[in-house]
Amino acid sequence: MNKITKLNTDDILTKDAHLIQSFADLDGLKQVASRTAIVAAKGAYVTDSEGNDLIDGIGGLWCVNVGHGHTEIIAAITEQLKTLDYYSTFYNFTHPAAARLAEKITQLAPGNLNRVYFANSGSVANDTAIRMLHHYNNRLGRPNKKKILSRIGAYHGSTHLAMAMTTPAYSEGWDTAAENLVHHLRAPYAYREADGMTDAEFLDVLAEDMLGAIHNIGAENIATFIAEPIMGAGGILVAPDGYHKRMRQITQDHDIKYISDEVVTAFGRLGHMFASKDVFGIEPDIITTAKGLTSGYQPLSATIISDEIYDVISEPGAMFYHGMTYSGHPAAAAAALANIEVLESNKIPENVRTTGKIFENALRGLTDLDIVGEVRGSHFMMGIEFVKDKATKEAYSDEINVGLRVAQEAQKRGLIARPLGNILILSPTLIMDEKQIAQIEVILRESIKAVTAEL
Ligand SMILES: Cc1ncc(COP(=O)(O)O)c(C=O)c1O
Repeated sequence: MNKITKLNTDDILTKDAHLIQSFADLDGLKQVASRTAIVAAKGAYVTDSEGNDLIDGIGGLWCVNVGHGHTEIIAAITEQLKTLDYYSTFYNFTHPAAARLAEKITQLAPGNLNRVYFANSGSVANDTAIRMLHHYNNRLGRPNKKKILSRIGAYHGSTHLAMAMTTPAYSEGWDTAAENLVHHLRAPYAYREADGMTDAEFLDVLAEDMLGAIHNIGAENIATFIAEPIMGAGGILVAPDGYHKRMRQITQDHDIKYISDEVVTAFGRLGHMFASKDVFGIEPDIITTAKGLTSGYQPLSATIISDEIYDVISEPGAMFYHGMTYSGHPAAAAAALANIEVLESNKIPENVRTTGKIFENALRGLTDLDIVGEVRGSHFMMGIEFVKDKATKEAYSDEINVGLRVAQEAQKRGLIARPLGNILILSPTLIMDEKQIAQIEVILRESIKAVTAEL
């Protein structure tokens, strides 16, 4: 890769003082040294402005599923822009790339999810799902059936509504538009909440929590339950076996729609194109997805809805008052089509069933380290929780910044990982081979030991 000079780093970071980063400690970022400029990427690696090649252990932001720099995807975007740079999907207009992609996605999606609305982010995909369901209930003459069941620990995005559905922890000091609209159920956080229970007992507790909420709020007031198949940004929380099936049954029994937020889990991360049915055995009413849909080469999200919902919102006299200028943008649709072709022709989801398991097991091996309380997750979606005392699970205080310190040590050794309080998240590209996986394990082991020695 090109050698990048120090001069460039200073230049980039000086200009960067005008950029507001996402989910960042903006005060901390005023120190130039705390920022990293990524200037190039290829395969499973990125290069920083100092010329260091780093394993992209977070796949961009759990999105670069097929790896960086795929020439087929870049060529497809370029060709599309040469032919049709932009046209909207407003009113009666459409274009071939959006039409082909809509058909393809609905072929891949489970059950009767046969209609798709495109937007440019997972946040807007989730907002779209809620707007559609509210409109659906209005059309059915049920104007009160609007409340949303979400979960503590959830992450559904950063628009006002998506953030209201996200875990309340992220709203400290911020307002959310829809506080009274959303009820947060208990998190399926077995390590901290199951308290000696078996998986089955913990599942009963979680199901009772949902039933209790439905009883208190009234099913006639609840539009939907929204859930990530595995909670990502909440700390990689894997629900007990059978959780999604049980929750699906409860929602069906109470005429509550089930939204599966597959912004992270779709397109191969758990070894299948969609995880809802193939991994967790459920057919939701709506799946939202983004990230791996284009592997990050273009911004694109999809809200995929059932025929039953579509039939109601497309009745004679109904008007779909919802639209984004860039919904189904030709370049983004072309990127997604090429990306899905790469996933299919290289059998990436199938390979993940093997390599992802190797990755999972390699990371689980770190449990022998003194400060590793739990390693959890599935395939290429993993989290490591650090604790002060393994027996009591006593957590490190926030000021210790244990996750950040391990991430900094890992970066020094050639790996980008994402800190989240006392947790370190790994969600690399899905093309990692055994050698790279072994390298990640070694780097993490050394980094955790280095931080342990300092503590
Ligand atoms: C499960 C989940 N839903 C929604 C979102 C929001 O997606 P976006 O950042 O594209 O708005 C994210 C982002 O990380 C996510 O992890």
